[in-house]
Amino acid sequence: MSEPRTPVFAANWKMCHGPAETAAFMERFRERHAPRDDATVVVFPPAISLPAFAEARAGRPDLRFGVQDVHAEVEGAYTGAISAAMVPATGATWGLAGHSERRREFGDTDAMVARKLRRLLDAGLRPVLCVGETLEEREAGRLEAVLETQIRAALSALHAEGRARLVYAYEPVWAIGTGRTASPADAAEAHGIVRARLSGFEGCDPPRSVILYGGSVKPANIGQLLAAPGVDGVLVGGASLDPDSWAAICGAGA
Ligand code: 13P
Repeated sequence: MSEPRTPVFAANWKMCHGPAETAAFMERFRERHAPRDDATVVVFPPAISLPAFAEARAGRPDLRFGVQDVHAEVEGAYTGAISAAMVPATGATWGLAGHSERRREFGDTDAMVARKLRRLLDAGLRPVLCVGETLEEREAGRLEAVLETQIRAALSALHAEGRARLVYAYEPVWAIGTGRTASPADAAEAHGIVRARLSGFEGCDPPRSVILYGGSVKPANIGQLLAAPGVDGVLVGGASLDPDSWAAICGAGA
């Protein structure tokens, strides 16, 4: 059984909200969401909007932010890519790796995800490892095997100190952007599997590990998802793009 902990509300804006929209979003969101010390709020804007986010959150250090993806290498001839080493100068402190859209659209493999996690850690960022199964895999009874493979590939490539800093996001691919949310029981089951898979890796502390749920989270279902055993927070796509909706989610349980 995991211990109760302060929830993490994370927003993944994906390829939405350029610098101007980021500034407008933040103007409204800052009015709608007062700082709370019993939760962590972190937004992952597109990389080009990181400086705009930093400027727009001035005076609100409670509004953390991070990068959605980085290259597996630190520097070099990789046109269009972003190095983790470049990120801290923006003020961002978190980073995603292994999102299913990266795996599907850009061919990120488990081995690449592991290297990206290393880059994020080397840059002093807090990495979020995203894992999750497709509908096909779920229906074939492979939920546990898929999560195990994704987690093992990532953790095997890290040192104990690095593992200790990881946050996890369980995002069933069939629930992303589909309006089809995992039931609280589904989420609890999958989070239990993730937590169990962490044991045995030096540096991991399964009862204290933070595991977020992602997939069609909205103001209407945030309460029941956060109440599910082992769900320590959420990673929200579509419903985080509107400042009122995101404020409603970040106010859950207050
Ligand atoms: P939606 O909330 O739009 O389903 O997206 C979830 C997600 O992929 C967050 O990373």
